[in-house]
Amino acid sequence: MPDASTQLLASRLASVKPSPSMAAKALVDALRAAGRTIVDFTIGEPDFPTPPHIVAAGVQALSSGQTRYTGSAGIAPLRQAIAAKLARENGLAFTPEQVVVGTGAKHVIYNALAATLNEGDEVIVPAPYWVSYPDMVALHGGKPVIVTSDERTGFKLVPEALERAITPRTRWLVLNSPNNPTGAVYSAAELQALGQVLLRHPHVWLMTDEIYEHFVYGGAQHVSLVALVPELASRSLVVNGMSKAYAMTGWRIGYGAGPLPLVKAMTLLLSQSTSCAAAMCQAAAVAALQGPQECIADTRLLYAQRRDRMVELLARIPGIRCAPPDGAFYVFASVAGLIGATTPAGAKLTNDVDAMMYFSQVAGVATIDGTSYGLPAHLRLSFATPIAQIEAGCAALSGAVQALTLSHSNEEPSHA
Ligand SMILES: Cc1ncc(COP(=O)(O)O)c(C=O)c1O
Repeated sequence: MPDASTQLLASRLASVKPSPSMAAKALVDALRAAGRTIVDFTIGEPDFPTPPHIVAAGVQALSSGQTRYTGSAGIAPLRQAIAAKLARENGLAFTPEQVVVGTGAKHVIYNALAATLNEGDEVIVPAPYWVSYPDMVALHGGKPVIVTSDERTGFKLVPEALERAITPRTRWLVLNSPNNPTGAVYSAAELQALGQVLLRHPHVWLMTDEIYEHFVYGGAQHVSLVALVPELASRSLVVNGMSKAYAMTGWRIGYGAGPLPLVKAMTLLLSQSTSCAAAMCQAAAVAALQGPQECIADTRLLYAQRRDRMVELLARIPGIRCAPPDGAFYVFASVAGLIGATTPAGAKLTNDVDAMMYFSQVAGVATIDGTSYGLPAHLRLSFATPIAQIEAGCAALSGAVQALTLSHSNEEPSHA
């Protein structure tokens, strides 16, 4: 007989998996609790503290009594600062009324889906994807339509694949550039081409998740598709937040900008759920957007150095293959060359999850399997960690790979 707690749970929860990054964190914690030294490449947040002038603004907000509810869509100074930022940095024309503040970008995406999806509506999610998109779609009765790409297109959605995926039930395309987990950054020309497909299908809305916009390397540049194809603005939601750019993951401030009816619907949901984002965090976000921006350039430089070092060291390991990512702070490496190998304990690595477990348990290096991001035979390695950790971790990975007995097929790594 099902117990009472099972009966309590909503049936739509059955389609939702726990976040793999949270599961990876739990594994790291468990190994550390067992006394192991672990190099953690699972980290999905900046390893820097929030810049002091932003912290000071939060403290000042607290001591000056900004400790009450705010309007559900956010305080006016923050909505104004966001509209000004979108105009200044992204060439996007939104009024402050078209901006809604949420408790992190994740919450903004959640609310947008909650506000727009009916049972069976389809949402196109290009894979590899940020783990939360498909589950959030499913949680709201939608059907995630996964369109998989691989290294042959630089892990990017191509126009033909988008065209094929669109049906009369398509409600949204969710586009994330720079991308988590691959670091792919769409060029202006690539975005234009996707925009042209969307123009042919006026019932499809566009959600652009631009949370890693500042972390681009080499010649890569972040451009917002809505700025490139302004005709899409009347059916687009631009999502961004403070977490990555300003090392503010714990402050939980994200935002969306889009057409008024959508923003109003999302605000209505906020009014009946969280009421508003925390007042003092909103004040800190104003300081972040209006204050000095050098902190972003400084961290970008550090990430670029870490990226180069990680890619250089991984390239020396047989069976692991990766290109330098153009953005975000992740390397998405193929481990196809290790599948089928035998561990010193006699076990076979049958897939990327086995490889991930082998590396965490034998090398003491925690990574996240590509399967969790919709593309097996890969691992995601975060370089939001100091160079010394990157060097120690890659040395341990190298040792663990040397200890493997590679199967015949490992000699010619296949394309995953
Ligand atoms: C692609 C992507 N979008 C959104 C988020 C959520 O960010 P926030 O902390 O603002 O909720 C993350 C966090 O890892 C992310 O990787």
